[in-house]
Amino acid sequence: MNKFTTASFIKSKKEGHKISMLTAYDYSTAKLVDEAGVDSILVGDSLGMVVLGYDNTLQVTLEDMIHHTKAVARGVKRALVIGDMPFLSYHVSVEETIKNAGRLIQEGNAHAVKLEGGKEIIDKVEALVKAQIPVVGHLGLTPQSVNMMGGFKVQGKNEAQAKKIIDDAKLLQEAGAFAIVLECIPEKLAKLVSESVDIPTIGIGAGKYCDGQVLVTQDMLGMYSDFTPKFVKKYIDMGTSIREAVVSYCQEIQEGVFPEEKHTFTIDEETMKKLY
Ligand code: KIV
Repeated sequence: MNKFTTASFIKSKKEGHKISMLTAYDYSTAKLVDEAGVDSILVGDSLGMVVLGYDNTLQVTLEDMIHHTKAVARGVKRALVIGDMPFLSYHVSVEETIKNAGRLIQEGNAHAVKLEGGKEIIDKVEALVKAQIPVVGHLGLTPQSVNMMGGFKVQGKNEAQAKKIIDDAKLLQEAGAFAIVLECIPEKLAKLVSESVDIPTIGIGAGKYCDGQVLVTQDMLGMYSDFTPKFVKKYIDMGTSIREAVVSYCQEIQEGVFPEEKHTFTIDEETMKKLY
């Protein structure tokens, strides 16, 4: 089994292999997703909403990210694990950025980190790459900027925004990023961005011309119902299956159907007699 590496990202784009990426936040999900053959696993700060129940990603801390990245890394044999840098962990200074990203690699066992933004964080991306930390960029809808953007909205629909996304993608490539996530931008713009850089683009709500796709696993499995964006395809309705299974479990406890003999342990009669 060949590990999927940062070099595999670049090779995939050259050879036309579309990169598959999913999020995971825990050991068992990471193991399942890795065994199924996904190329890369993102420990996204979307864990703030999907796992921790926050309204957005802003409250997620570096400690949260390290904790969940560690768990994911323990379950993965082949996929490339990317740890998301949370809000304010890469905004203060280059030094802090390197230390924080370093913790995701050293303590979290991530293979790479992801940062949101373009020109405004380019000095941090350059410094991370110099420090031998592989970087994935993230352009378009960058959820950590939700308050600046005035909500979770499609980005790059006007000329100025679209031009900035193209320029930022080129800057990220020059700074040494090995891939760029494009979130919630028009398909035609994502195609142009993908054609403008040699590093792969990974789309989420950015159409089919990206060099790969990423989804939040809980979204595509139908396990997270608070909000389902237009770009999500549900491959299975696990939410309904889980609820039905729990209803059966509760009923069977009441009816004495569960546990059955095969779920119980025995003790010899002689020992039992001595206990009365
Ligand atoms: O946090 C996350 O899961 C992400 C993806 C939506 C790309 O950044």
